[in-house]
Amino acid sequence: MEFILVTPQAQPHVALIQLNRPKELNALNLQLMGELRDALKELDDNDEVRAIIITGNERAFAAGADIKQMAGKTAIDMLNIDQFSTWDQIRKTKKPIIAAVSGFALGGGCELAMTCDMIIASETAMFGQPEIKIGVMPGAGGTQRLTKAIGKAKAMEMVLTGKFMPAEEAEKQGLINRVVPVELYLDEAFKLAAEIAKMSPVAIKLAKESVNRSFETQLDEGLHFERKNFYLCFASEDQTEGMNAFVEKRAPEFKGR
Ligand code: CAA
Repeated sequence: MEFILVTPQAQPHVALIQLNRPKELNALNLQLMGELRDALKELDDNDEVRAIIITGNERAFAAGADIKQMAGKTAIDMLNIDQFSTWDQIRKTKKPIIAAVSGFALGGGCELAMTCDMIIASETAMFGQPEIKIGVMPGAGGTQRLTKAIGKAKAMEMVLTGKFMPAEEAEKQGLINRVVPVELYLDEAFKLAAEIAKMSPVAIKLAKESVNRSFETQLDEGLHFERKNFYLCFASEDQTEGMNAFVEKRAPEFKGR
């Protein structure tokens, strides 16, 4: 594993996965996501593990999908790369996953946190779907999960303006479980994981499956719809301009083409 660190028994029955591309603010490139999928599958199959924590570092949980890797892609490239099949496998993980978030959780980073089952945040955490600023839209479930978590008006504002939501507000809106001082966010995630790990692993698995079922059928359709529109963005000049502007560290000039 090059871009993640895995500790299967970080505490009794609790595994820890740390995203580890600190210089790139843990931008989620294809390799990192593949490693995460493989690690989760292994931990899911490991009888000693009863709960899993995914974290980043103090500055960033993850600042989104890797824009540099996507910048030159066409809609058909994106369709063929099919990056979200990895995400589909991740969301099939049967054991509970807690995201321990500090700093940036943006774009795919926010979507990854929302793909987890619970979110513990540090007071410095910032959630956001800023894809609109680079000429695209969320593609890994943001339009669906954020809307379900915080309601249409708030989700629409975040997705259409790219504005960030600080941890305290995210707690008020029901996006996350709780916010704690920055030095405690990982401890708090471990505490929650330890409580869950005391329960029957069979009942936990079935309960997680049941809670998810409350919106899964609609979610499947919603994800499919979102994905097609995300790919379609890559047929626009604005996507090329938006992503190139990010890479070149300048403001984009969108033309509506
Ligand atoms: N992809 C690739 N590289 C990224 C990145 C990303 N998403 N986010 C940050 N980086 C890189 C920067 O390019 C920079 O690298 P260099 O030092 O080589 O230039 C490094 O990480 C540090 O970032 P900054 O210098 O920009 O740090 P900052 O503190 O000034 O700003 C930030 C932090 C506001 C998070 C800013 O980095 C940013 O806006 N990042 C992009 C956020 C974003 O748009 N995410 C959505 C991605 S698209 C997506 O996720 C699609 C999807 O739904 C699947």
